[in-house]
Amino acid sequence: METITISPELKLSRVIQGFWRLQSWHFTPIQLCDFIHEAIKLGVTTFDTAEIYGDYEAEAQLGAALRLDPSLRSKIQIITKTGINKPHPDYPYRTKHYETSYEKIISSCNKSLEKLNTDYIDVYLIHREDPFFDHHGAAKAFAELKAQGKIRAYGVCNYDPIKFHAFNEVTDHALVTNQIEVSPLQFEHFNSGMMDLLQMENVHPMFWSPLAGGSIFTSDDPACAEVRQVLSRIAQNHHCEMDTVVYAWLLMHPVKGMVISGSQKIDRLKNAVDALSLRLDLEEWYEIYLASGKQVLR
Ligand SMILES: NC(=O)c1ccc[n+]([C@@H]2O[C@H](COP(=O)([O-])OP(=O)(O)OC[C@H]3O[C@@H](n4cnc5c(N)ncnc54)[C@H](OP(=O)(O)O)[C@@H]3O)[C@@H](O)[C@H]2O)c1
Repeated sequence: METITISPELKLSRVIQGFWRLQSWHFTPIQLCDFIHEAIKLGVTTFDTAEIYGDYEAEAQLGAALRLDPSLRSKIQIITKTGINKPHPDYPYRTKHYETSYEKIISSCNKSLEKLNTDYIDVYLIHREDPFFDHHGAAKAFAELKAQGKIRAYGVCNYDPIKFHAFNEVTDHALVTNQIEVSPLQFEHFNSGMMDLLQMENVHPMFWSPLAGGSIFTSDDPACAEVRQVLSRIAQNHHCEMDTVVYAWLLMHPVKGMVISGSQKIDRLKNAVDALSLRLDLEEWYEIYLASGKQVLR
């Protein structure tokens, strides 16, 4: 498995397994342990979750698996996120909102460590851009957590270039990633200049919903149908699966990103891993880039 060195002391697998949908898989802790072991056999050692995933339950599900098999902890890297508050019986929120203050980051991190049944989080991220963002408070919280060994690295998700640049300056260029939505149907970060800023900063993004949440394969939307047609032709030429082509398309970009697979099926995770040995040519890359009709060349 190829790895990406995101900080001097931390390498992540280029294919990451995501747990956004974990609750809906109805895995027992034993089944989740087995799933993680299977992923590790494929070389996928990095796992992505968040405080709010699975209605605040996903971290605890992963923690239950780690309690059942403590040997797993040293074999994997855990990414989790803070910054979104949603009404829930265990939390007194009236309405969904963002909270990224010093106090919130510190208290969320301590709760996540407890739920995950671990002493440290490998990568701790702010989940969404917060219009009420206190850069200096957040930077202080992250620096303290890192100095205490509670997190090994930190970054953000879904930031636009100006916001990424501003926070990266305040943290003295400590941000190790921006986790962003990119797929053959989602081009915001190509158009915003994010892919360019990340290369300039030598920061590797993580691409979420690489298969557009599965809609690439299931939606009747004409843009999805066009993408499917192009992917199917390219996949046939390379004797591989269509999802492998999508992952190869994402992985070949010079920004050197990581992909986060969201499937509950090990076979589909293997399709993502297979992409590391699939080389598309530049014209194939552009065919996929243009397939949905959402992007045009001038
Ligand atoms: N930072 C953020 O704001 C953010 C936001 C969203 C997600 N994420 C992260 O990114 C991860 C991946 O996102 P995602 O789950 O949306 O990824 P995705 O891989 O685009 O979508 C996964 C979904 O697609 C389905 N699927 C895959 N292949 C399929 C096929 N051939 N035919 C039909 N359905 C297919 C899967 O179903 P099966 O399970 O049945 O295979 C699953 O429901 C998440 O788990 C989370 O960790 C981060």
